[in-house]
Formats: sequence, structure tokens, C-alpha cells
Amino acid sequence: MSYFTRHNDDLCAEQVKLTDIARRFGTPCYVYSKAALSDNFLAYENALAATPHLVCYAVKANSNLGVLNVLARLGAGFDIVSGGELLRVLRAGGKAEKTVFSGVGKSSDEIEYALNEGVLCFNVESLPELDRIEAIAKKLGVRAPISLRVNPDVDAQTHPYISTGLKENKFGISIDAAVAAYQRAAASNHLLVKGVDCHIGSQLTELSPFIDALDRTLALIDQLVDVGIEVKHLDLGGGLGVRYRNETPPAIANYISAICARLENRGLTLILEPGRSICANAGVLLTRIEYIKENGDKKFAVVDAAMNDMIRPALYDAWLNIEVAHSTHVVPDIYDVVGPICETGDFLGKSRELAIASGDLLCIHGAGAYGFTMSSNYNSRPRAAEILVDCESVHVVRERETLDDLIRTEHTLSMNP
Ligand code: LLP
Repeated sequence: MSYFTRHNDDLCAEQVKLTDIARRFGTPCYVYSKAALSDNFLAYENALAATPHLVCYAVKANSNLGVLNVLARLGAGFDIVSGGELLRVLRAGGKAEKTVFSGVGKSSDEIEYALNEGVLCFNVESLPELDRIEAIAKKLGVRAPISLRVNPDVDAQTHPYISTGLKENKFGISIDAAVAAYQRAAASNHLLVKGVDCHIGSQLTELSPFIDALDRTLALIDQLVDVGIEVKHLDLGGGLGVRYRNETPPAIANYISAICARLENRGLTLILEPGRSICANAGVLLTRIEYIKENGDKKFAVVDAAMNDMIRPALYDAWLNIEVAHSTHVVPDIYDVVGPICETGDFLGKSRELAIASGDLLCIHGAGAYGFTMSSNYNSRPRAAEILVDCESVHVVRERETLDDLIRTEHTLSMNP
């Protein structure tokens, strides 16, 4: 279901015309639908109603405080990968005791911050990290709750940059080395074994890699029981894909029922870390056409958003649907939609049929996940505004950066004697 649909000739976010949002707040501009965020999160909650569970939204997908706040109000847990993400969760009303801390390179400061705030669990990715967490817990006089992130060596069948569960990837502890690592953790007075964690990649469109990873992880849990180690939860990470073009990922409910069918009678709490499947289709990027130009046979729509605002097409060759936000009366033609940045890789879409003229407003769909969070100031471009729509209400959840914001923390040599 789309939360960005046409009413008469105008594309709307819920009840609000995108052209009105662009006029009020300028472009480029991200627009999120509160109903989409809520419905996607509740699809997980409803499917998990009969299973002990915690849905920990993966903050990296969209870390805007307004977005996190919508999910926190619904009782979400959070999956974080940095101290910055922990701060965001806490400021947005999320609870540390519902937060898991993932990531391959946690710094000492981040570990101390998370221990002091009382996170639910560290998803530990290596033995040196386990040693570091133990030492910091000892210094603070506490016991650190941990899971080991095991690498089950399954092929997620997704883009190689976002596949994480193969043994050649940097992530996790090899599943073959996991029992010994758990024994090491269980013997410590400053570590508390809570669960087993696994995440094999992102934008998965098939169930089978999830099921393979689950089966291997359950086999590990059995081995742990044999050596006297009992875990309370199983964290299966995130990764469920969405439809950007013609992909056919499993529905959330089907994905959950396939998992739960294998968990029966184990008494485990299921933790999931979905990001994209909660927010990708809850957001669009609005951009205005600056120029229409032709080079030989090719036609370009030069727009005011660029790879610094949305890097997925440039980085992964990702395809995002692009639509005009209002009706036009020009003849359709084939355009590359490109940004103002000085790189040939700065495109948002290639060979798109669009009926457009300069000044028109384009809507880039599927931009709610890994859009703003991967944006930068490249070419000294201020980052976009972010707007959250709730029925007819419009909330500015991030103001557009100003030119002064760009240089606020920099100094010339004369200012630094
Ligand atoms: N948990 C862990 C440990 C992760 O590394 C990730 C994503 C997630 C959960 C959430 O996965 P999701 O449900 O969103 O698939 N920038 C890329 C995606 C990178 C994903 C990284 N890890 C993109 O734009 O496609």
C-alpha cells in the first residue's frame, strides 16, 4: 500500500499535497508519512502477538528524532550502532532497556556510554570486543549483557555491498568458533550471556537465506545447551526487503510466520532489527527541476537534489521510482534525472519517461530508508529539510541546513593561533 497517492491531479503525502510542502519548505526535502511508519511497525507487532518478542527498529535506516519518536510511542525497541544513535534514541523517548547495540567497531567511550545508560544487550562481533566490554564493565563494577553475533556463512542473495553473513565478510564471529567464545563469556564475572545474534544482509527478497541462517543459529543454541549455557533471546537481525520496482519480497506476516514456525516450544524471546521494511516506503524525496538540457541525443533533467542527498543510485545502482508531483501538459520524453554535483555518478534515475518542464516538482519514492541518513555535505551543499506528515498536519522534523551551518565548526588558521 502506498501512503503517497494522487488526489485528483496532485500527489499527496497522506492528506497533504506535495506541491504545498515544497512551496512552504523548499526543495530538496524529505517527506515522511506517520501512518506508513506506524502501520509497518504494527505489521511486525501484530504478526508477533503470540510470540515473546521485541522489535528493535534499526536506527541507521532513518534516525530522524521525529521518526524515532513515532516508533518509541508505539513501544518500539531500537538497534543502534553508535553512541550518536544511542543519544538519538534517548532524546526521542526510546528506552535503553529496549535497545540492542550492534556494530563491528564499538569504541570504549561508546561501550561505557551504553553500559551507563543500561542497554538491553551488546551484540558482540569479535573476541577482542568481548575483552574490551568485559574490562569496561569491570571498571564500572557492572555485568555487561551480551550476545555474540555469529556469522552463519549463508548467502543473502542481495547486493554484495549489503551482504553480511558470508564468512569472507567482516561481520560477526564464525559460527564454528562460537561455542568456545560463549564458554569464554559465560566464565566471566563481568559478562552476562543473554542471547545469540545474527544478521545476514539487507534488502533480502527471498525467505530461504533467513531460514538457513535461523536453522544454523538454532543448531548453535542446541550446542550451547549441551555445554550448559542457556540463552534467553534469539536476535535474527533485520534485512527484509521492500519493493522498489518489481521485487517481490515476502510480506512481513509471512516472514514472521516462517520464523515462528521453527521457534515453537523453545521459550526464546525473538528480537528483530528491521530498518528498511519499516521506513523505506514511508518516505519520498522532493526535488525541483532546475533545467532541462540536451547533449546530443540525450536529454537531462537537472534537479536540485543530488547524490549528497540520496546516494543509493550512485552507490548501489539502486532504482527508485520517480514521478511528477502534479499534472503537466507537456509531451513525455526520456530523461536522465541528474543532480548538480560534479560527478558523472550523480544521478537519481536514468532513462525515465517523464512529462516535465523546468520548475516542475519530482517525487522520488522509496526514499525513507538509507536516504537522509546517508546524506552528506559534498560540494558544500546544505542538507535537506525533513517533514513528517500526520493526516493533514505537517511537522518540520529537521530544518534545512543553512550556509552558516556548513562552516559552523571550522576555523581558518588565523582563528587558531
Ligand atoms: N541490524 C544490523 C546489524 C544491520 O547491519 C542492519 C543493516 C540492520 C539491522 C537493518 O537492516 P534492514 O532491515 O534495513 O535491511 N545502505 C544500504 C543498506 C545497509 C544496511 C546495513 N545494515 C542501502 O541503502 O541499501
